[in-house]
Order: sequence, then structure tokens, then C-alpha cells
Amino acid sequence: MSTRVEEQIRAEIVEVGRRMYARGYVASNDGNISARLDDGRLITTPTAVSKGYMTPDMMVIVDFDGNKLSGERKASSELKMHLEIYRNRPDVNAVVHAHPPLATGFAVAGIPLTRAVLAEVITTLGSIPIAEYATPSTAELPEAVRKYIKAHDGILLANHGAVTCGESVTAAYHKMETIEHFAKISLVARLLGRENLISRDEVERLQGLRGTYGIEAPAPLCTDPNDAAAGDQVLCQVLEAPESASERLVPDITSVLAGLRGATGRAPVAIRGDGEIRLTYAELTALIADAVKNLR
Ligand code: 13P
Repeated sequence: MSTRVEEQIRAEIVEVGRRMYARGYVASNDGNISARLDDGRLITTPTAVSKGYMTPDMMVIVDFDGNKLSGERKASSELKMHLEIYRNRPDVNAVVHAHPPLATGFAVAGIPLTRAVLAEVITTLGSIPIAEYATPSTAELPEAVRKYIKAHDGILLANHGAVTCGESVTAAYHKMETIEHFAKISLVARLLGRENLISRDEVERLQGLRGTYGIEAPAPLCTDPNDAAAGDQVLCQVLEAPESASERLVPDITSVLAGLRGATGRAPVAIRGDGEIRLTYAELTALIADAVKNLR
């Protein structure tokens, strides 16, 4: 790699660090960024520095076993997680880790961003699962991420943050922006009490659009979690998308149930395995009355 290209990558890491800090994706010394320099070398942010105030000369160069090759500082403590991603994804040239507050809130609540709600997110990132809790900086974290990284460019880390990867530092960072934006929209919809989901057929149409627009995704979309796992790795992007014969947007069953609980003060009488809800006449009228009231 030429010195000029390496200089560009250093500058890109500094710029992305500034953006992450400015947007509040990291506080204090949180977060780390790395990039592939060539087949034998990786460049990473040093440990324990604010990502808002980095300079190009601070970076550390390591080999793919994590041994330091050059740089005055110590490499990021999350280097093991970054290395695991490069090992599993030869197509990836950069990794970004941050703690964006809304996405991390979902990760803390144990709620993955896997609902089919935004067409653009479905066609690009697909779904954003949560890797099991792992102690930061230990070998547990790469182990937790390994399960999902073959199929996903963005993963939430339980009670920790999020990690994204891409063909460049900027591309990986943009995926972090998408995750945080998606988390914000999801939170607002859930606070409003309604979330309409994109139907299974429409998800298939969006899968087709990936091909039409040449959107590169590491794995196909899937709507049946049983299709997802092969051994200890997830191999498709699982989305929660309801079956519907005629509608492309289907009200989320849990928001219907929440409305029902609000209207009647108790859970519905019976929910069948296929999603059918059985209501008494009184429950149905209470639900309709509540819906009409909300429309006013
Ligand atoms: P480093 O400063 O060692 O890169 O770690 C920051 C971090 O966010 C740990 O999860």
C-alpha cells in the first residue's frame, strides 16, 4: 500500500472519530475504529483516547494476530473483536465500534432491531440482531459477535453498544448512523403505540430490489428464524414480517395487544398459534371505542 493511501485512511479514521463524538455516539474514550491496510496489516485507533480529538499519528499498526508493528501507543482493547470480524469477512476493510445511545438502549433492553419496518434499512442492513452479553475487551466479545458476523454488517452488543463493518471506514461509519437513526424511528413508533410491519411478500420484493440496485449484502433476508442457523452461525438476515394475503403493511400484533390491554384493562382471552385473537363482544367494542378516541 502506498504511503499516500495509508495517509488517507489515517485521515478518514480521524474524521469518522470526530463525527462519532460530535453525534454523541461515544462519550469520554469510548469506541474504536480500524481498517485493513493490506493482507498482513491493520491500522487501529489507540486505546483510551477521545475519538473527538484524535490525530493521524496516534494510530497503531498491528498484524492479523494482534501484534503491534508500529505506533507509539497501545492498540484498542477491542482489537480482538475487530480481528474476528476481518477473519470472518474477507470483503470487509473497516470496522467501527461505538455506543450510540438509542441503539444501545435497545441492546440494553434486549430488543433487537429485526422488525421489517423501513424499506431502506431492509434493503441495506437487513436486520440488526443482538450478540449475547460479553465482558468488553475479553475473548468473549469476538465469540459473541462470531455467530452473527457472516450474515450482518451491523450488530448490537448486549448491554454495551454496536459494531458495524464495511468496505471503507466511512462506509462502516454510515452503517452506524443508519442503526442509530433506525433505533430512533423505532423508539418513536413504539412510544406512539403503533408499529405497522412490512409484510412477508413485500420483504421478498425488497430482496429483489437489492439485486436490481446492486446492493451488496453479506446474506439474504429470511423471515423464518428456522432458516437462519447453520451450526453456531447465523447465515441469513432474519426479519419479523407478518404473512398477509392482501396488505403490504400489517399492524404489529404486540401493539394491537397493548391497545387491547389499554382498552379492556386485561390481556385478550385467547391468542391462537397462527396469530388469531379471540375476543368477547365487550372486549371488541372497548377496543373499537379506544381506537375511535385515539383518532379524535
Ligand atoms: P478502547 O479505548 O480500548 O478502544 O476501548 C473503548 C471501548 O469502547 C471499549 O468497548
